[in-house]
Amino acid sequence: MTDTGSLAAGAAPAGCPAHTGAVRLAGLEYQQTPSQLYRALRREHGAVAPVLLDGDIPAWLVLGYSELTYVTSHDELFARDSRRWNQWENIPTDWPLLPFVGYQPSVLFTEGEEHQRRAGVITQALEGIDQFELARDCEQIADRLIASFAGSGEAELMSAYAHALPMRAVVQMCGMPHSGTDTQQLVDDLRESLDAAEGDDPVAAYTRVGERIHQLVKEKRERPGPDITSRMLLHPAGLSDDEIVQDLISVIAAAQQPTANWICNTLRLLLTDERFALNVSGGRLSVGEALNEVLWLDTPTQNFIGRWAVRDTQLGGRLIRAGDCLVLGLAAANTDPQIWPDSHVGAENAAHLSFSNGEHRCPYPAPLLADVMARTAVETLLERLPDLVLAVEPEQLTWRPSIWMRGLTSLPVRFTPVVQ
Ligand code: HEM
Repeated sequence: MTDTGSLAAGAAPAGCPAHTGAVRLAGLEYQQTPSQLYRALRREHGAVAPVLLDGDIPAWLVLGYSELTYVTSHDELFARDSRRWNQWENIPTDWPLLPFVGYQPSVLFTEGEEHQRRAGVITQALEGIDQFELARDCEQIADRLIASFAGSGEAELMSAYAHALPMRAVVQMCGMPHSGTDTQQLVDDLRESLDAAEGDDPVAAYTRVGERIHQLVKEKRERPGPDITSRMLLHPAGLSDDEIVQDLISVIAAAQQPTANWICNTLRLLLTDERFALNVSGGRLSVGEALNEVLWLDTPTQNFIGRWAVRDTQLGGRLIRAGDCLVLGLAAANTDPQIWPDSHVGAENAAHLSFSNGEHRCPYPAPLLADVMARTAVETLLERLPDLVLAVEPEQLTWRPSIWMRGLTSLPVRFTPVVQ
């Protein structure tokens, strides 16, 4: 694809001169090489680009590192409650992005003191997790998953490993056993509701998830244990059961998809890039480097909806109207040439925006827990199956058709079968 030639300009929404020449974000051609899209957008529109979401709904994509930092650290101007949106009258009931944008009474959409109260409970509940125990639990889960395919000498790691491991780990952190039919049903329903495949019924699956989490909350009210759910229930903020159910689902969903794609994108880097191939079996350091490089260059949550302007304001030379939607261009900001003047992208530090920034950023210590899960997943796999290689040519790997979550459609590998 050529840089500028690929920008499919959409029709400007009626009455919106700022969106003349806006770029349709939905479209398969972008998904294989988003960095080219971001570069072209930046060249044509600057740090804040007019874009069209599914159904040609206008929004702003914030591409600049400093603009994104500004947006996420000024809640009084760019807030999180999507009910502020000035486009609701144009949104059909079956709009594909509704599950992410439609208001829910969870921590995600709260603002101000109410957000501090809800996020504070989550933070304290997550702080109770012992990272060494989490690593041990993840290793056990990894071993079970690996045992299910180790004898065959081949596997598709996205479904058999990268998605399954963080899902089981997070379900266990919430106080459910990581295996068993009941947990398996929840794991299947969560997958179906977060990442529906053809023929799935995500709405029915989501309803079952809600029922199961309600039941979990009830059980933990009666018999608390050393888990996230019980710590949320016992927190002095006194959240209601309904609030806890909403926030637990948010925690599980927020943890599973990005961590799964972080694992998969790191494995892809390790298996395709010779800078890492030389070292993987020799030292663990390179796994840490690969994990960090992925956050800079192939971050799982590439773009995130979002923030809504509280009042008319300016950003990156644009006039933003009250109620406009801003998409956080996390991947674009990470590769902003303004912070990489020598065009050498990627650093050993963690100044990327992959966990966002400001009041609504991925709450401490979630990034540390995600790191434990991802690191243990990658290291355990490479230790158990040391001659693991891709089963296809690197160019045959394809990215999922999503501009929101960056991850592969599949990651087929082969290795010497392990006799159990
Ligand atoms: C243990 C794993 C994780 C947990 C428990 C977790 C939890 C959460 C929660 C509860 C939120 C909502 C925060 C709020 O609205 O106040 C959130 C937001 C977010 N998380 Fe995480 N997360 C995890 C892993 C990850 C990973 C691996 C990534 C990406 C590399 C990530 C990126 C984000 C981003 C971009 C947001 C949006 C922040 C915003 O609105 O500005 N998270 N996470």
